[in-house]
Amino acid sequence: MPGRYFLTTPIYYVNDVPHIGHAYTSVTADALARWHRLVGDDVFFLTGTDEHGLKVARAAEAAGRTPQEHADLTAARFRETWDLLDVVPDRFIRTTDPDHHEAVRAFLQRVHDNGHIYRDTYAGWYCVACEAYYAEDELLPNPDGGPGLDPIHERPAEWFEEDNWFFRLSAFEQPLLDWYAANPDAVAPVGKRNEALGLIKGGLADISISRSSIDWGVRIPWDEDQVFYVWYDALINYATAIGYGSDPERFAAWWPHVHHLLAKDILRFHCVYWPAMLLAAGEAPPAHLNVHGYLTVGGKKMSKTSLNQIFPADLVADFGVDGFRYHFLRDNPFGPDGDFSYEAMVSRFNADLANNLGNLLSRVATVVGKKCDGVGPAPRPDSPLAPLAADCVRDAAAAWDAVQPSHALEATWRLIRDANALLEETEPWKAEPGPEVDGVLGDALEVLRLVSILASPALTRSAAEVWRRIGLDGSPADQRLPEAAAWGGYPGGLPVEKGAPLFPRLKRPE
Ligand code: MSP
Repeated sequence: MPGRYFLTTPIYYVNDVPHIGHAYTSVTADALARWHRLVGDDVFFLTGTDEHGLKVARAAEAAGRTPQEHADLTAARFRETWDLLDVVPDRFIRTTDPDHHEAVRAFLQRVHDNGHIYRDTYAGWYCVACEAYYAEDELLPNPDGGPGLDPIHERPAEWFEEDNWFFRLSAFEQPLLDWYAANPDAVAPVGKRNEALGLIKGGLADISISRSSIDWGVRIPWDEDQVFYVWYDALINYATAIGYGSDPERFAAWWPHVHHLLAKDILRFHCVYWPAMLLAAGEAPPAHLNVHGYLTVGGKKMSKTSLNQIFPADLVADFGVDGFRYHFLRDNPFGPDGDFSYEAMVSRFNADLANNLGNLLSRVATVVGKKCDGVGPAPRPDSPLAPLAADCVRDAAAAWDAVQPSHALEATWRLIRDANALLEETEPWKAEPGPEVDGVLGDALEVLRLVSILASPALTRSAAEVWRRIGLDGSPADQRLPEAAAWGGYPGGLPVEKGAPLFPRLKRPE
């Protein structure tokens, strides 16, 4: 049943420019948004930038800019990258947007009015790179003998001491455990759910949610001398974008049926703090939290300091937009960590795009040119490919629903292989023109029609090109599933164009 599909990525810090790690989450989200539009859902896809906090303020200072100037420049880099990769959000939110400030103030005023915020002195370790507090025993030993290192960036923590506002997170231990018990599927995959549960069961301390030492942030409505701690501002973007504090009806229509995508680095914030904040504000926790692993380069998480960042534009230059999107969606299953390899990217491109899909199209177009005067015949209702196609469509749909694009594309490419196998078995290029040849070519054209639709969330450009070359009007992205996936939709009698190779084979790197 079509419904509403609210999909989010983390909002990215503007201290750094986008690399393939950010692109992994955003391309995955964009592909999911496109799939859900195909099945008729009313989709709202949100991404954006996280612009406040000490980390951004320091990066701006180091660059000799004001935080706002720095945020404007880097937010533009994120927008350009998403344009380059055909990532098309319904809203690109910036935490400096005025409606976001209003939503944060309204949300946290509610939490305050509900009695969950109090004033106290904060004294403890803080990692600016993570924008996170750490207990002494959570830090790694520092080989230089200085303060302990944070476990994610391995940088020395800093000692902070301030008069702050605190959120009574400890009071939400039991409500969170109850919520996890009642919603066993809220956090996926299950390993990440267990990790979140482990954090809660390990005990939750109250946390400081404000800063008096910086002024780059959202001012606290009941104490204008302080700004909110950046995470308490950032998480609320998900509520701002659907009208929290400005349009209650819209908010009620979309919340809590959200699908958040995030990597494991920010699991604690999304799977512990965010549901607790929502409960404290009298709202339901998010319905779906989909947590993926890290994309590593040379076995290490990408970071400026490891000098192992890879930038999307460099790969797009070699593989094209579709080659880029296809690789990350197909080769990095959603959930586990995965190491980036240029070689693997070339192999995947050659095997799946140049060989399987590219060959199917060029073979069919060539033989239709030779044996059918360039006019594509209709498929056979009783084609041996019909039941195989139904299986692939079913499996692909289930995989997209389960946030597993790699499995969805695997199922889609199974259908391409089945069609190539039928051609190899029947060899229409050797046969005399006639009903037998027409039938096989019609079946293959029908597979190309189906594959254009099923692959369109990944291949934003070439799926439309296949569609056009087999003579169809409109675009695969405008089709509606499941109706459009019924066998026999290719009408026949359409001009088929051979054209240049869709995906010229790439050479392996020397
Ligand atoms: N600003 C916070 C998020 C606030 S959300 C309310 C933040 N920003 S970030 O710029 O560090 O982005 C982290 C996210 O970027 C990860 O959760 C993930 O979605 C993506 N990734 C960044 N590097 C990544 C990898 N190396 N691998 C996979 N995803 C990566 O945290």
